[in-house]
Amino acid sequence: MARLLVTGGAGFIGSNFVHHVIENTDDHVTVLDKLTYAGNRASLAGLPEDRLTFVQGDIADAALVDELFAGVDSVVHYAAESHNDNSLHDPRPFLDTNIIGTYTLLEAARKHDRRLHHISTDEVYGDLELDDPAKFTESTPYNPSSPYSSTKAGSDLLVRAWVRSFGVRATISNCSNNYGPYQHVEKFIPRQITNVLRGIRPKLYGKGENVRDWIHADDHSSAVLTILDRGSIGETYLIGADGEKDNKTVVELILQLMGEPADAYDHVTDRAGHDLRYAIDSTRLRTELGWEPRFRDFEAGLAATIDWYRSNEDWWAPAKDGVEAFYASKGQ
Ligand code: NAD
Ligand code: DAU
Repeated sequence: MARLLVTGGAGFIGSNFVHHVIENTDDHVTVLDKLTYAGNRASLAGLPEDRLTFVQGDIADAALVDELFAGVDSVVHYAAESHNDNSLHDPRPFLDTNIIGTYTLLEAARKHDRRLHHISTDEVYGDLELDDPAKFTESTPYNPSSPYSSTKAGSDLLVRAWVRSFGVRATISNCSNNYGPYQHVEKFIPRQITNVLRGIRPKLYGKGENVRDWIHADDHSSAVLTILDRGSIGETYLIGADGEKDNKTVVELILQLMGEPADAYDHVTDRAGHDLRYAIDSTRLRTELGWEPRFRDFEAGLAATIDWYRSNEDWWAPAKDGVEAFYASKGQ
C-alpha cells in the first residue's frame, strides 16, 4: 500500500482520479484542496473513510505542504486555476496557484525526496491550424496563448528545472480536453447541457469552428496512474484519445441527444485570443507504457454525461446562476 497526496482532488479531474485510485489500488489518498469556487467536497462523497483523508488548504502554504509531504510516498499535482475565460478577466490567482503553488510543491518534493507527477495541459503548445495534419507531440515547442496556459507552461518549466538542477523525481503529462461527470458548469460541455436543462439556449463562441480533442476523464485518470507506476523520471507524456471535434458539432450533438432542434443555439462574442485547434499524438504513452483509452465512443460518453447532469442538479445548481451572470456581463 502506498500513501498518495493528490492536490486539487476536489476538482473535476482530481476527484475522478481519487475515485480511480481507490477503486483500482490499495493506496491511501490524502487530498489537499483549497476548495475554491471550483472545488466541491461532494465530488468525493461515498469514498471509504479509512482510505481517504481530506485536508482543506492552499498548495502555496509552505508549512502545510511540508507537513503533508513528510507523511506520503508520492504526490499527484492537479490543483490549479483551470479556466481560460477567468484568466482573461483576472489573471492574478493563476500566477499564485499555478506558478507559486507548483514552486512550493517542488521545494517540498526536493526536501523530502518525494516522487511527483505534475498534471498539465496541451494548451502549453499553443494552437494548430484547422487544416494542419500535424498533432502535438512531446517535442512540440511551447507557445501558450492565454494567462491560464502561460502559467501552466511556466509550471511545467519549473518542474523540468527542478528535475535537472535538483534531481527531483518528477514526471509531467499534458492532456487534451476532458469531459465527464463532476465538471464545473463554467466549462463548455456542462454549460451547454445545464443551459438546455434550464431552458436557456446553448452559447457558441464565434463561428464554433474551433476544434478540441476530447477525452473522457476516466481515461485521463488511467493514463496518470500508468505514468505514476511506470513513467521514466524527468519525462513528459502526452495524453489524448483521438477525439477531435469542432465546437459546433459538439453543441449540435448535445441538442440532438437532449431532444432539441440541432440549431437551437446562439452565436456569442468570441473568446479573446481563442486557440483554434488542439490535437494530441499520444503514441509515446501507448507504445512505451502500453496505455490505451477505454472510452472510444464520444456520443455514448456524452449521453452518459448528460444523464449525470440530469440526475445531479443538487451538485451543479448552486453555481449555475453566478456563472451565467458572469458570462452575460461579457456578452457570452
Ligand atoms: P478544476 O478547476 O475543476 O479543479 C481545480 C481544483 O484545484 C479545485 O478543487 C480547486 O479547489 C483546487 N485548487 C485551486 N487552487 C488551489 C490552491 N491554491 N491550493 C489547493 N487547491 C486548489 O480543474 P480541472 O479541470 O479538474 O483541472 C485539474 C488539472 O488538470 C489542472 O492542473 C488543469 O490544468 C489540468 N488539465 C485540465 C484539463 C481539462 O480539460 N479540464 C485538461 C488537461 C489538463
Ligand atoms: O485543452 C485542455 C484544456 O481544456 C484545459 O487545460 C483547461 O483547463 C480546460 O478548461 C479546457 O480548456 P478550453 O478553453 O478548451 O475549455 P472550455 O470548456 O472553456 O472551452 C472549450 C471550447 O468551447 C473552447 O473552444 C471555447 C468554447 N466555448 C466555451 C464556452 C464556456 C464555447 O463555444 N461556449 C462556451 O460557453
